[in-house]
Amino acid sequence: MNNRIVWFCLILLLLSTALVFAQNQGKEEMTLYGGKMGDITFPHHMHQGVINDCMVCHADFSKESGALLASKKAGMLKNKQVMNKTCLKCHRDSKKAGETYGPVKCSGCHIK
Ligand code: HEC
Ligand code: HEC
Ligand code: HEC
Repeated sequence: MNNRIVWFCLILLLLSTALVFAQNQGKEEMTLYGGKMGDITFPHHMHQGVINDCMVCHADFSKESGALLASKKAGMLKNKQVMNKTCLKCHRDSKKAGETYGPVKCSGCHIK
């Protein structure tokens, strides 16, 4: 086969793989529903950098836009369950351990 065609195909394959991985990371930042306390501005990619394991959060809800709210509506997650058992738990534990931590006060996450 022509060498140039082989290289062209290889580069195409690499580019499409890179694109698929890039898309799977989800939005960089998102707004989450926070009930009467007001919505939460959530830095998604920053957390991916800090945490390394998607399943720390996505074990509870799928990697789809709106999945968190849909799971609560379906009764698969209680209101404030993710907030308390995932978000706040990590932030509090990190604070206690003297490491870099995220907000532990309501107003740190719920921005009215
Ligand atoms: C600290 C928690 C957390 C971690 C860690 C995390 N995510 Fe997410 N992810 C979320 C939340 C919250 C949503 C929004 C779900 C919703 O809209 O209901 C989300 C949504 C998504 C979506 C849906 C598209 C979108 O942007 O709304 C994709 C895809 C995704 N995440 C991929 C990943 C991948 C890949 C990783 C690991 C590299 C990861 N996430 C790690 C919390 C996290
Ligand atoms: C680390 C970020 C963070 C902090 C701090 C935080 N929350 Fe939340 N809160 C969330 C997230 C994320 C959700 C949506 C997911 C859920 O319901 O578990 C939420 C949801 C809520 C809801 C709506 C539940 C529903 O579906 O109706 C209420 C009410 C709420 N929080 C109250 C509070 C109060 C009160 C405080 C302070 C004591 C607080 N939150 C602190 C992140 C946070
Ligand atoms: C396993 C640990 C861990 C989990 C789980 C986690 N966070 Fe964080 N979060 C951090 C750390 C660490 C920081 C501080 C990073 C820094 O300042 O460099 C942070 C920072 C933040 C900030 C502040 C960002 C800023 O610009 O100052 C917000 C808001 C936040 N987290 C919300 C959330 C929400 C909402 C969830 C749950 C969906 C969550 N976090 C889950 C570790 C975690």
